[in-house]
Amino acid sequence: MQIPNYQEAKKRNKQEMLVKTENYILKEDLRNLGKGKTYFVKTYGCQMNEHDGENIKAILEEMSFVECETMEEADLILLNTCAIRENAHNKVFGYLGRVKHLKAERPDVITGICGCMAQEEVVVKEIMQKHKYLDFVFGTHNIHELPMILNNTIETKLQQIQVYSKEGDIIENIPVKRESKYKAWVNIMYGCDKFCTYCIVPYTRGKQRSRNHKDILAEVNCLKQQGYQEVTLLGQNVNAYGKDLNEDYTMENLLEDVALTGIPRVRFVTSHPWDFTDQMIDVIARYDNIMPYIHLPLQSGSSRILKLMGRRYTKESYLELAFKIKEKIKNCSLTTDIIVGFPGETEEDFNETLDIVKQLKYDSAFTFIFSPRIGTPAAAMKDDISLPVKEERLQILNNLVNQYALEANQMYLNQTVKVLLEDVSEKNESMLMGYTDTMKLVNVKADKMYLGKIVDVKITDVKTWSMDGEMLHKEVSIG
Ligand code: 5AD
Ligand code: SF4
Repeated sequence: MQIPNYQEAKKRNKQEMLVKTENYILKEDLRNLGKGKTYFVKTYGCQMNEHDGENIKAILEEMSFVECETMEEADLILLNTCAIRENAHNKVFGYLGRVKHLKAERPDVITGICGCMAQEEVVVKEIMQKHKYLDFVFGTHNIHELPMILNNTIETKLQQIQVYSKEGDIIENIPVKRESKYKAWVNIMYGCDKFCTYCIVPYTRGKQRSRNHKDILAEVNCLKQQGYQEVTLLGQNVNAYGKDLNEDYTMENLLEDVALTGIPRVRFVTSHPWDFTDQMIDVIARYDNIMPYIHLPLQSGSSRILKLMGRRYTKESYLELAFKIKEKIKNCSLTTDIIVGFPGETEEDFNETLDIVKQLKYDSAFTFIFSPRIGTPAAAMKDDISLPVKEERLQILNNLVNQYALEANQMYLNQTVKVLLEDVSEKNESMLMGYTDTMKLVNVKADKMYLGKIVDVKITDVKTWSMDGEMLHKEVSIG
């Protein structure tokens, strides 16, 4: 048994920075462990976690498990969790009620939990005391050990807890079952060293470890050969890519090399304003296949609150960067993340945030009420803003964000844009859906034979969160 420990997670001395790259291998005798059994994986949280879910599914399938549609019919249930805010926790604990019920009805079903919540000391203690029906727990650093953990669960019938507080090596060649045939997530780095004072991620995902760029480029080339149209380079803080390696190769080099593979669309998330260099902006502006879409988390518009958040930029330097991006990258759409109600946030501080939103007119924004995460510095700060005040600020902010989102979309009316048609539309089965270069969701009148293609679409109607359009019959790229 190995349980997480925050004190350990916080220790990051130089010597421990040595990260090896190893290859994933499934032991032959585990290939049939899941024969005749079904699995159901439920994933919460960010794209990084989504991608982990894709790895987990493929590992299970290599062990002969077969995916099924609902938890009720599964022989193996696994919750891949998120810890970013209290409500992410609540969702998982709510779902666990159903898992417990099922386990009581069918004691043979194997149940487990993984992901960011599994990295939290308090959560694992609670599981050990109150959720004994869960058969196994593993963390974000040892997905590759899932076969071994499952084997131990089945053989010993004892609760298996294997969570490491210290990040391990980088494991290459973990199999992946991608959700889409047309667009793919590609991890470029793991973990985060920024330690924003509100954020749990540096604890749940460990220190920053960049993948070797040759491995990344090989993955992108392989995706291109398989006909993928789009890759999204993933990391908690992609702009800091490479800074932990002893090589003179950073994010602008990687972006350029990925663009040069010729894959039709390149995206990346998430950027921290601190590491966004002029060279990066130049590369994005120079390559047509690097999409003009930047997600640039603001968090707060008040320099005083930004300092308390440990963000290492000011209102002025953020604005300077954002305007530079807008000026140099043609038709660039800009989105952001904002937290309201951080401890000590005054009306004046909040107005500074509104001021930035008014100046930059974001294409859209994810907005949150501050949620104290146990073990982070901000959770220990005096939080004297009442919940109604926080809710009111969120409402005011959302109204403003929505107004600008609609205005930004209105500029697209009657314009022709390129859309990667990726699926049937959720709102209307006779339409397809996809995203523009600038990451706008479009429901498109088009034949299903165009799925997986980047096509020209004329925008016929716009709303706050989506647009409607009609395909023009001039194909842009053949998949
Ligand atoms: N409370 C509220 N929002 C948070 N985020 C991260 N941590 C917290 C927290 N403790 C938000 C930030 C981040 C996004 C992914 O989630 O805005 O950019
Ligand atoms: Fe949630 Fe952060 Fe973990 Fe992603 S990295 S799953 S957002 S806690």
